[in-house]
Amino acid sequence: MRIPSLILIIPLLVPVTAEWYPRTGDDEVPPMIPYDNNQEIPLECTQRDVENNGEHKFDENMNVLYAPFPLCAETGKPIAFHYGTDAEFNCTFSFTDELFHQFQYYVHEDAPFSCRLPLSNPDSGEAKSEKAYIPLRFNFRGNIQESHLDIDDSINVLFTSAIEQNTPISAISWSSSTEANRYVIGDSMTLKVAVKWFKTSGTGTSETPINGGFYKLPNSLNGVSTPVYILSLIVCILLTAGGVYGIVYSRFSKKAYTMGYRPTIDHETAVGKKD
Ligand SMILES: *[C@@H]1O[C@H](CO)[C@@H](O)[C@H](O)[C@H]1NC(C)=O
Repeated sequence: MRIPSLILIIPLLVPVTAEWYPRTGDDEVPPMIPYDNNQEIPLECTQRDVENNGEHKFDENMNVLYAPFPLCAETGKPIAFHYGTDAEFNCTFSFTDELFHQFQYYVHEDAPFSCRLPLSNPDSGEAKSEKAYIPLRFNFRGNIQESHLDIDDSINVLFTSAIEQNTPISAISWSSSTEANRYVIGDSMTLKVAVKWFKTSGTGTSETPINGGFYKLPNSLNGVSTPVYILSLIVCILLTAGGVYGIVYSRFSKKAYTMGYRPTIDHETAVGKKD
């Protein structure tokens, strides 16, 4: 017997219920403990097996293994981002055999350069399974050549964060210049990094654990909406004009009084030329 087609449609009409995301390793809603402004955010990246098509490396319980970002020569530490702080810096590291082959996978888009950072303040003392993470993927552009790799090593990093709660919500990084450099195994690569934070409010109404929803980029990437920007421009112009008028007027009228000038009418009298 054929199932009437109406019955097949019914499941499509049931509204999709949203769940809080991301969740902890125990599949719980995370507490979202605020970061301090400028607090260093620990970053860890998936380990990839270059002998096995760039597949994840796993521990004995089949958990994906993470490792810090390569050490930057400039600081002796892995790349570090600071909560809410825009920055520009360099990070130079050398291409070990393994890292070079990993970058072949990244540039060829066989595997993503996936990292993650804790949603909550890392000093909150939560165990690893109680933590929730947000992903940060580095999308490197380039070309794989027979003898070397061409990589665009200038990267933007963008964060959105919850203004109410001081926690990061999402992050992305991508190559963004019109230049690529040529690299072989053993070379050093200097990443040119520009970091920008957008603090926004969610569009949601749920209270668990904050008003979540879509943390959109602001209308204007200057961080100010266009009407507010135009209004502040107008106020600025009026204040400046008023100030200048006040100063000039009081000087001129005093000078005109003491020097016996007539009220200024044209350019010539304004510069005090008497003929
Ligand atoms: C990064 O290094 C480049 C040279 O590779 C240099 O021109 C630039 O000034 C450096 N930027 C910073 C922020 O140190």
